[in-house]
Amino acid sequence: MAKQTIRDLALEGRKVLVRVDFNVPQTKDGEVSDDRRIRAALPTLNYALEHGASLILVSHLGRPTGDPATDAPFKLDKVAAKLQELIGRPVAKANDTVGPTAQAGAAALKPGGILVLENVRFNKGEKKGDPAFAAQLAGLADAYVNDAFGTCHRDEASMVAVPEQFKPEDRAIGFLVEKELQILHTLLADPKPPMVAIMGGAKVSDKILVIENLLPRISKLLVGGAMTYTFLKAQGHNTGKSRVEADRLDEAKKLLEKAGDKLVLPVDHLVADGIEASAKTQIVAGSDIPDGLFGLDIGPETIKLYTDIIHKAGTVIWNGPMGKFEDEPFQAGTKGIAEAFASAPGITVVGGGETAEAVEQFGYAEKVSHVSTGGGAFLESLEGKSFNSLRVIPDR
Ligand code: 3PG
Repeated sequence: MAKQTIRDLALEGRKVLVRVDFNVPQTKDGEVSDDRRIRAALPTLNYALEHGASLILVSHLGRPTGDPATDAPFKLDKVAAKLQELIGRPVAKANDTVGPTAQAGAAALKPGGILVLENVRFNKGEKKGDPAFAAQLAGLADAYVNDAFGTCHRDEASMVAVPEQFKPEDRAIGFLVEKELQILHTLLADPKPPMVAIMGGAKVSDKILVIENLLPRISKLLVGGAMTYTFLKAQGHNTGKSRVEADRLDEAKKLLEKAGDKLVLPVDHLVADGIEASAKTQIVAGSDIPDGLFGLDIGPETIKLYTDIIHKAGTVIWNGPMGKFEDEPFQAGTKGIAEAFASAPGITVVGGGETAEAVEQFGYAEKVSHVSTGGGAFLESLEGKSFNSLRVIPDR
C-alpha cells in the first residue's frame, strides 16, 4: 500500500520535522567521508523549502554511549556544515535536541530556514522510545516527515513515538523513503525475471533469513566473501585458515540442500599467507583452500562466471563484498562485480553499508539502477520484515 508522502502535506508557513539518516562514515578527524546519505535527502528538503516550509532536521550519528568525552565525535556540527555546502543555504545547528538551544532555534525559524538538532541518540529517551521525550521533540514542529530509510528498522522515539504525536494528516514519508520502498516492491513482488542475488560479507548467519526469503524468487544465488568458506566447509572441503563460522555449519548444510543448484560458489580463490595487505597472494582453482592459507577474495574465473550470470539477469541484487576489499590486494573480486553491475542491462540494486561504499569507491554508483541508503534496513526488508516506523505513516 502506498504511503502518504510529503506531496500530501500542508507545508506553507509550517515547521516540518524531518527525520533524516545522516549517520555517515567519518574520517579519523570527524570529517564526513561519504556524503551519499546527505545528498539522497536533498530532494525532500528542497521540496519542503520550495513549498514555503522551514526545516527541523533530526538524525543520529554513530552509537553514542552517554559518556560526553567519548561521544564528542558523534556531534552533528560537521554533518550540518556538509549539508550547508550541499544545499547552498544557511544551516543553523542547535547544541541540544530538545533543550533551550533547540527550542530557541525552532522558535526563530522563518520559511526557508533550516535547523539541525544535536544527535538524537545523545538523549536516553531516543533508544527507549520514551513518549515524554517524543512529545518534547514533536512539540518543536507542525508536521513530520520520515526520510530516514536507513533507520526504518529501528523502533527509536524519533522513528515511531514522535510521528505518533502528530495528526495522521501531518505525517508522511519523504522522496528517499518512497524510492527505497518502490525498489523493494520491485525486488520482492514485481522483479523483471530472471532475478539473481549476489551475497557476500563475512557471515552466513547475517544472511540466512534473506537467503530463505529470496530463494523462491531467484534463479541463482551467487556467493562470495568469507561466508563462502562456511559453505565450503559444510560441503566437506578444506578451508585452510579461512574464516569459517564453525557453529553455523549445520545451517549452511541445510541452506545448500534447500537451494540445490541455485546456489553458486566460487570456482577459484585469491588466497594469502596472512590477512595483512603485505601478505603473499596466489590464485587457487577449485573448492579447496591449501593448508595454512587464507581465502580472501574470489578469483578471476569466478569474476567471469558471475559477470556472465549478472549480465543475463533481468534483475540483480547485491549485498556484501566479495573479499577483504578495504585492502588493495584483495579488492579485485568486489571491483569486478561492481564493474559487472555497472555494465549489466537489467535492473541492478546494491544494498547499503559496505557494498554501497565499495561501489561508490570504485566510481560505479551512478551506473547502477539503485544504491540503497539502508544497510540493516535494506537487509531486513529483503527478509520480508515490516517496520513500525512505516506503520505509523498513514496509507494514501
Ligand atoms: C545504519 O547505518 O544502518 C543506520 O543509520 C542505523 O544505525 P544503527 O545500526 O546504529 O541503528
